[in-house]
Amino acid sequence: MSKILFASSEVYPFAKTGGLADVAHSLPRALQNDYEIEVIMPLYCSIDKERYGILPLAQSFRITMGETQYPIEMYGCSYEGIDYRFVYSPLLCEREFLYGTATDDYEDNARRFGLFSYAIRALLKGNDYDIVHLNDWQCALVALLVHEDHDITTKTLYTIHNLAYQGLFEPTVLQELGISESYFTHEALEFYGKVNFMKGGIAYSNRITTVSPTYAKEILTPEEGCGLEGFLQCYRHKLMGILNGIDPEHFSPLLDGALISPYTNVKGKKPSKSDLLKQLGLKGVTKPLFVFIGRFVSQKGMDLLIETLPKMATMECTIAILGEGEEHYYRALKSLSEQYINIHFTLGYDEPFAHRLYGAADFLLMPSLFEPCGLNQMIAFAYGAIPIVHRVGGLVDSVKRFENYDSQSDEGYGVVFFTPTSRSLFLAIRKSMELYSDKKLFESLSNHNMQCDFSWNQSAKLYATLYDSLLMGETV
Ligand code: GLC
Repeated sequence: MSKILFASSEVYPFAKTGGLADVAHSLPRALQNDYEIEVIMPLYCSIDKERYGILPLAQSFRITMGETQYPIEMYGCSYEGIDYRFVYSPLLCEREFLYGTATDDYEDNARRFGLFSYAIRALLKGNDYDIVHLNDWQCALVALLVHEDHDITTKTLYTIHNLAYQGLFEPTVLQELGISESYFTHEALEFYGKVNFMKGGIAYSNRITTVSPTYAKEILTPEEGCGLEGFLQCYRHKLMGILNGIDPEHFSPLLDGALISPYTNVKGKKPSKSDLLKQLGLKGVTKPLFVFIGRFVSQKGMDLLIETLPKMATMECTIAILGEGEEHYYRALKSLSEQYINIHFTLGYDEPFAHRLYGAADFLLMPSLFEPCGLNQMIAFAYGAIPIVHRVGGLVDSVKRFENYDSQSDEGYGVVFFTPTSRSLFLAIRKSMELYSDKKLFESLSNHNMQCDFSWNQSAKLYATLYDSLLMGETV
């Protein structure tokens, strides 16, 4: 069996700030029957080693980066059938958060994730991995390091989960990273006077994927290319989009231990909904419950949402919001929840609570300005909550307009709006209220969505085809 090393800066359940962690958890599981796959991530100090049986591997070494030597200790565990490798170094791991506080990124992130990348290269050198699958800017430098090292034959696949986070740093970091100044060119890492880690992944990996087919097209345009559209166009021959999936066992209203009562159809959600409303002090079980779950960042459409909430609050509905992120957003949300009795707001990230929200919700709000893939809409389908989405990125590939509902299809349906304005969002919400009052259609749609397959079944096959073509040394 071919050996794959899957590298990510976050993996659920060990550490998570967003969808990347879910993908790094579920995609390797979907591939493990066909490949010998190991997952590697940093051993952040917040990870509970005892709980997951994480032990030292008696493998420690030093990495010289620039003029400094850094100690590395490797740890490992086998968890739910997957072998995990953890990189421990104080510089990388001894932090309260993964990448920074709500207001600032850690100033030494270049060195932290540079070190993570060097540690991955060290592991590739001593082992016979056939492919290293790299994710987002935090691992992007591995592609460059492997490209430079002629002893390593491992093939590199680079997945972009979000082009908006490129890993941009002052040019002085090159010296700290021990990376030659000759890479500070437009063809390599230079980007408007800064060093851009992601460019390393794009230029030096053997293949690139993004997390949905639509996003793969969008990033080639000035609107969505975040300044890299031209650069990406040079490499479009090795770029493809593969839609993410979700883990059907982790997101199953029948198996979910967080729910007070398991269910298999939309009628079965009632106990979950009344229980949640009671817990949150919201009134009106017969009114539609709208939820928002996610990071409070502009990408997720927070401005639209905050602008629309006061109008929504005057309607016959309840609203529950869960998440964390930029401070100005959560201040605004908090004050709205204090102003309106039908808005509830919870700050923080709480996986079981998120599951209970999906279990109770009638609608999920996803007004993202851009969305590389998005997983929440798929989770919403699985739990019988109808997503309300802006037609962009992975949302185009996964949510069809309910107006075109075809009960025979295997597509998921939701309320789709086309322009990222609060007016369009409001109209979509009004449409959702109407849909909710058409009980027959609402239930039929939700039940249909619950039966759709958003697991990795299809997409894992596409990754496998890609892995196999890399293994066969096919050039593009
Ligand atoms: C990022 C993207 C999101 C995607 C996730 C997993 O968080 O913003 O759209 O679903 O990565 O790939």
